Amino acid sequence: MAGTCVIGLQWGDEAKGKLVDLLAPQFDLVVRYQGGANAGHTVVAGDETYKLHHIPSGILHPQVQNLITPGVVINPSTMLNEIDGLAERGIYCRENLRISERAHLVMPWHMAEDKIINATAVRGESIGTTNRGIGPCYRDKVGRTHAIRMTDLVQSTRDDRIATVAKQKIELLRNMGAPKEDLDAIAPDQVVSLAASWAERLDGMIGDTTELLLDACEGDSKILFEGAQGALLDIDHGTFPFVTSSNSSGVGVCAGAGVPPRWIHQVLGVCKAYSTRVGGGPFPTELEDATGDRIRKLGNEFGTTTGRPRRCGWFDAVAVRYTARLSGVTRLALMMMDVLSHFDELKVCVAYELDGHRLERFPCHAEELRRCKPVYETIAGWNSPVDDVRTVGDFPAGALAYVRRIEELVGIPVGVLSVGPDRAQTIFTDAASELALEPLA
Ligand code: IMP
Repeated sequence: MAGTCVIGLQWGDEAKGKLVDLLAPQFDLVVRYQGGANAGHTVVAGDETYKLHHIPSGILHPQVQNLITPGVVINPSTMLNEIDGLAERGIYCRENLRISERAHLVMPWHMAEDKIINATAVRGESIGTTNRGIGPCYRDKVGRTHAIRMTDLVQSTRDDRIATVAKQKIELLRNMGAPKEDLDAIAPDQVVSLAASWAERLDGMIGDTTELLLDACEGDSKILFEGAQGALLDIDHGTFPFVTSSNSSGVGVCAGAGVPPRWIHQVLGVCKAYSTRVGGGPFPTELEDATGDRIRKLGNEFGTTTGRPRRCGWFDAVAVRYTARLSGVTRLALMMMDVLSHFDELKVCVAYELDGHRLERFPCHAEELRRCKPVYETIAGWNSPVDDVRTVGDFPAGALAYVRRIEELVGIPVGVLSVGPDRAQTIFTDAASELALEPLA
């Protein structure tokens, strides 16, 4: 089998969903392996736009099997809404979606806890989570005592287990200062009946994805692993504590999916031609000026999940070089090239200056990163639209010079260029042939 990963190399929202959807027909399985409904993958197919949170982006292709594996945290209400929304548009998940019985559930109490986290300043700033209960759910997973997994939904002990945890959570949340309406929302009877309805509706879709995946690996299947968020949000390797609660860099694939490292062969590292970030935390190349506003407007940089305006800035080659190495990237995908078509000059961060010293390494501490000043290289803009470009040779020379410089700085060839949201607005370069991906017909 051949395992290919699609990993975001910045702070998420790199348009991974578009690539996964595009590549999915060449694969037998598409696997979502970490994160939860904090993710928002936008896929444009013809005149239709799909916004997916839980469901793997391969779902639009009926012949592709989609797996949600143990590392994902699932809010069943959100997922069922997503399944219903897709069904209304003629896409049925029952046959080609399997959800791991080992995956953990985001319960209503996790949503209440997330509100409290967001109201708390960490090192002087709120993490600015997506309010989807992600951190509290992963905390319970690691803590074990209050965790509920998919498998618990289909056990005879379900109602007792959920009522017991609900009672404990009411006490804990009361002590944390949760408002009355949030405590009322987790009344044991109410959550027990909610869980029963989830079990009924998800019946037949919950199963042993680990066994399925190992069989696929040992057979001759082609598997695409779809990362959520971006590597700079990785809990261990990102801009801690301003990160998400899972391993969103390439190193998270094996643990989250339940797949041994030997089966991973290709890693496509996805980044925008500039940078964005949602929520709190340091962002050295952030542009809090008219140029930043212009990038936000041209790139329609507003969150898929929360609608929040994204913070925008120039491409940070120090950060992407770090995350590309960490993720084992074999080819880069450079997205949103069209957004940079309207500037006289562009800047790329090639190093940082920290306390008077040049730094080429990505620092560990959020406070250090906050003090880093970007060292920029200025590159002439190409100032002409690229939305209609369909081959590498059609790009203006200035756009190609920009791409070549990013390849040099990051140290990895660009295999894919994207010039708009549509499937057709994707260009595979010569380097893509080594990706074992067939260029589009
Ligand atoms: P959480 O994952 O909801 O706990 O949020 C933690 C941080 O990760 C916040 O800064 C969020 O804005 C950010 N984040 C989480 N998911 C995404 C995503 O899919 N795209 C971009 N940022 C995200």
